[in-house]
Amino acid sequence: MENKFRVFATCDIGDAVNLLRTRGYEVEVYPKPEPPPKSLIVDKVKSGIDGLITTLRDPLDAEVFGASPRTLKVVAQYAVGFDNINRADANRYKIPFTHTPDVLTEATAEFAFFMMGALARKMWPAEHLTRDNEWGYWHPYLPFLGDEVTGKTIAVIGTGRIGLALIKKCAGFDMNVLCYDPAYENHNYINAIQEVMNLRHARGISKEHNWIKYVPFEEALHDADFVSIHVPLLRPGESPTPTYHLFNERTLRMMKPTAFLINDSRGPVVDEAALAQALRENRIAGAALDVYAKEPLPADSPLRDPTIADRCRLYPHFASAARITRLSTDPDKGMAGRCVQGLIDVLEGNYGGDITKMPFVVNKEAFAKS
Ligand code: GLV
Ligand code: GLV
Repeated sequence: MENKFRVFATCDIGDAVNLLRTRGYEVEVYPKPEPPPKSLIVDKVKSGIDGLITTLRDPLDAEVFGASPRTLKVVAQYAVGFDNINRADANRYKIPFTHTPDVLTEATAEFAFFMMGALARKMWPAEHLTRDNEWGYWHPYLPFLGDEVTGKTIAVIGTGRIGLALIKKCAGFDMNVLCYDPAYENHNYINAIQEVMNLRHARGISKEHNWIKYVPFEEALHDADFVSIHVPLLRPGESPTPTYHLFNERTLRMMKPTAFLINDSRGPVVDEAALAQALRENRIAGAALDVYAKEPLPADSPLRDPTIADRCRLYPHFASAARITRLSTDPDKGMAGRCVQGLIDVLEGNYGGDITKMPFVVNKEAFAKS
């Protein structure tokens, strides 16, 4: 089958676009590492492309969707999140957009786990000590100590795909788990993890008998040694349970002074000025962040305060940035493969052409037959 579809990709997603080319598609890839100007995306849509491959960096709204709504048939977003896409505008122009769920779940969960370890065990200041040639002696507690992760209590805020994957990893570290989710509680999964914990204790694999339970938000923050955030960004008005600035001056005060905050979900879930202040006043022990209100992180961000650098780890939206997760052309393994598959599903009319049945389409509501 020869397909004569034209596709524009706003960035290079690796070999996966060649899957399209071997199917006869004409694919143009924006060659620069930075995102293209919006005007260029609009021009490409105007020129009559059938499909658009985008990332979180590309703002997509009526200006883009409306540029040539009859020819643009699909937007394939290379991310699980789609905060950059105005869903109402996509629906108005009846343009389906797809995303890449599941394939980055484990990578994002393990990155949260590794950030937690790097932060608590002071990996960064410890390496600095060595590299800066300030490692003058071995001493029981000087110049500083870290805190163990093993055996501690973690609060997992948000028990969707990524939160649950993190819980699975925490169980392997003999951690106790406090779960909180504003919208949906997955008791089946939590009960299964408790069974795993019971077995590990019964067989002598874990010394302590660990536990996991859903609790209210305040209790999760109050009792945890680590708090890891895995909620979507929902602004006030978008949901009965908005998550914008869920972590603010008031809620940060609920955490123990010895507790650490981890965030690789979305930046605006945390009030960054309030967090920097809490770190300066030692109201919490540390924070590790991979996402920010504004990305890339501005030079004048309060999070860059050098007086908190020893306890504030900052990463560049890197949680899914692992080779297989990002680039595998297998739609069951890589974001690239899944992104391209979502595009193919729509353009080639898989699932009998029924968009509501296509697994990677987000805005199915625009295509439901009433
Ligand atoms: C990353 O932040 C994503 O949404 O894929
Ligand atoms: C540490 O290196 C130890 O031997 O205890």
